[in-house]
Amino acid sequence: MDLLTTFKKRARENKKSIVLPEGTEPRVIKAAASILKEGLAELIILGKEEEIMSIAQKARVSIDGAVLINPGESELIEEFTDIFFELRKHKGISREDASRQVVNPLYFGTMLVHTDQAAGMVAGSINATGDVLRPAFQIIKTKPGISVVSGAFIMNVPDCQYGSDGVFLFADCAVNPAPDAEQLAEIAASSAETAETLLGLESRVAMLSFSTKGSAKHDNVDKVVAATKIAREKGDLIIDGELQADAALVDSIAQTKSPDSDVAGKANVLVFPDLQAGNIAYKLVQRLANAEAIGPILQGIAKPINDLSRGCSVDDIVNLVSITSVQAE
Ligand code: ACO
Repeated sequence: MDLLTTFKKRARENKKSIVLPEGTEPRVIKAAASILKEGLAELIILGKEEEIMSIAQKARVSIDGAVLINPGESELIEEFTDIFFELRKHKGISREDASRQVVNPLYFGTMLVHTDQAAGMVAGSINATGDVLRPAFQIIKTKPGISVVSGAFIMNVPDCQYGSDGVFLFADCAVNPAPDAEQLAEIAASSAETAETLLGLESRVAMLSFSTKGSAKHDNVDKVVAATKIAREKGDLIIDGELQADAALVDSIAQTKSPDSDVAGKANVLVFPDLQAGNIAYKLVQRLANAEAIGPILQGIAKPINDLSRGCSVDDIVNLVSITSVQAE
């Protein structure tokens, strides 16, 4: 069974309520119809009911069964204002500002997740990454022991002998432009957890660099070495670094460059030193190796919120809702 079919099966078996704040976007409504038809999740769609229904009618799809909420007219505004004001007053926000902010669908949707009225949220089809992530950072915050949210991609590379039969987790490919050593260690721990919970893999984490075990000297290499040490001290991870990508993946090269490593030559979780490396790497593997790239999947966050690309297709939305449901298990 391919990965996405497996996620859909898991989502169907343990149906969660997912909020879609971008109810005025036709792709979202088409995806909602398909999610409801396939029984992948229960849905809360935000927006004006007439507008949402008119989009559904034009697209000739049914979203029967979805709960529609117009944030601007919701009876939850007072409650959400109180909660948001309490969360943000130390930042100098006024109650008026808080009440204005919570009717923004991205904030309202995040508040539904925060108050357990939804298990997760998927947005980003018409909003920039930062606008989806900011309310998540401000309201939902990170998991205990984690200070940094990061974005992972599941990479499924066809006809590939490396990783776990061609399946890998790459991180951080989406969020933190320049993580320090401490943050990189957290990204490694979150990535190992994501690979285990979503993919059922025993994680073997490679902390990637342009150097393998001291072959080059540079501050950037020192950061990866320090991050590996911190991650080892903090958690029970199978992790090694600093490793070059070939040493991480290819056994014969690992034998020469890092023969004593329990990760080199068999890594299935690749942690990149910064966002430029991670983002470039996933896109290159996706395009040049014709790999399936599933994500970004936000990790390290206390409850599942995921960000779509603005170029996403209807299928991308359906898939990310399924993954978000699985994360909410
Ligand atoms: N994890 C947890 N909290 C965070 C994180 C993080 N990674 N980053 C910022 N925060 C928190 C801050 O602590 C702050 O909290 P506070 O207001 O309670 O003090 C709040 O979020 C806002 O922080 P800012 O530093 O003001 O961050 P900003 O909102 O300017 O930017 C953002 C955050 C949007 C994620 C930024 O880091 C960014 O633009 N990253 C790159 C995103 C991107 O363009 N990715 C590539 C495209 S995605 C793709 O190709 C798949």
